[in-house]
Amino acid sequence: MHKRIIKDRIPQELIDTIVTSHNIVVFSGAGISAESGIPTFRDKGGLWDKFNPEEVGTPGGLLSLVMNHPERVLAFLKESFETMRNAIPNEGHIAVSELEKLELLKTVITQNVDNLHTEAGNTNVIELHGNLYRFRCIRCGRKEKYSKKQFFELADNILSQDEFNFEKLLSSIPRCTCGGIMRIDVVLFGEPVQDMDLAYAEASRADVMLVVGTSGVVYPAASIPVVAKRAGAKIIEINPTISGFGDIIDWWIEGKSAIVLKQILDEVKRVI
Ligand code: OAD
Repeated sequence: MHKRIIKDRIPQELIDTIVTSHNIVVFSGAGISAESGIPTFRDKGGLWDKFNPEEVGTPGGLLSLVMNHPERVLAFLKESFETMRNAIPNEGHIAVSELEKLELLKTVITQNVDNLHTEAGNTNVIELHGNLYRFRCIRCGRKEKYSKKQFFELADNILSQDEFNFEKLLSSIPRCTCGGIMRIDVVLFGEPVQDMDLAYAEASRADVMLVVGTSGVVYPAASIPVVAKRAGAKIIEINPTISGFGDIIDWWIEGKSAIVLKQILDEVKRVI
């Protein structure tokens, strides 16, 4: 049974649990980036409100859409890239990186592809669903990370052409040194998640897991807090709405992560 608490009164017991922990792991989802201006997927007005995930979130759906309705792919890419372009880490990401500097936190496991945990300064970030700014060769598997500037130059170049269709896309996307096509290295529905074994290993070593801004409905990622709980971790959820993790949560802090994580950090700094 979770303990519901009010955001303005984070109990001392919770702060003590964080301060005395040796290995906090953060498990994050789209909600942690909401205050960076990136809409979530399933909230009202979120990406899956506007676009059908079966169409734009699966390899087959996306390929079929680009061949038959390229204008819908163009609209999807323009909208998603536009929100990412100017996004910078918010106070939630920064608080998470501060917890690493204080040597309380070692690992961030995220479902986000927006690179914001790394930009905030965390050094051990496991990206289960990949990274928007990395490409992967579909022939040899070689990966190449782009800077945001490089990525958006390429994207702008492709998306602003007079015509957008399958042939144009194929001729404009980068090629690997082996000649293969480089695709964006994000995980679509039905594709294997990345570094899951590493994520399970880190989750099972956690003594505290902060579950931040995720609905907990997309598997296998959503099994991470369960693994941590079974291995003995205390689970603290930070979310304005309770997620699918109800039964395994020790504390639910009801609120936006940028505010709550900053509050927690301030309290922790007062104690140590
Ligand atoms: P969802 O859109 O499913 O859930 C977002 C969660 O963030 C919800 O629980 C919200 O209540 C919460 N939230 C909203 N604003 C918040 C805020 N300011 N602070 C804290 N929490 C807030 O996003 P994910 O759970 O990340 O996968 O979705 C998981 C996966 O489903 C994504 O990685 C993506 C998606 O389809 C793929 O595309 C493979």
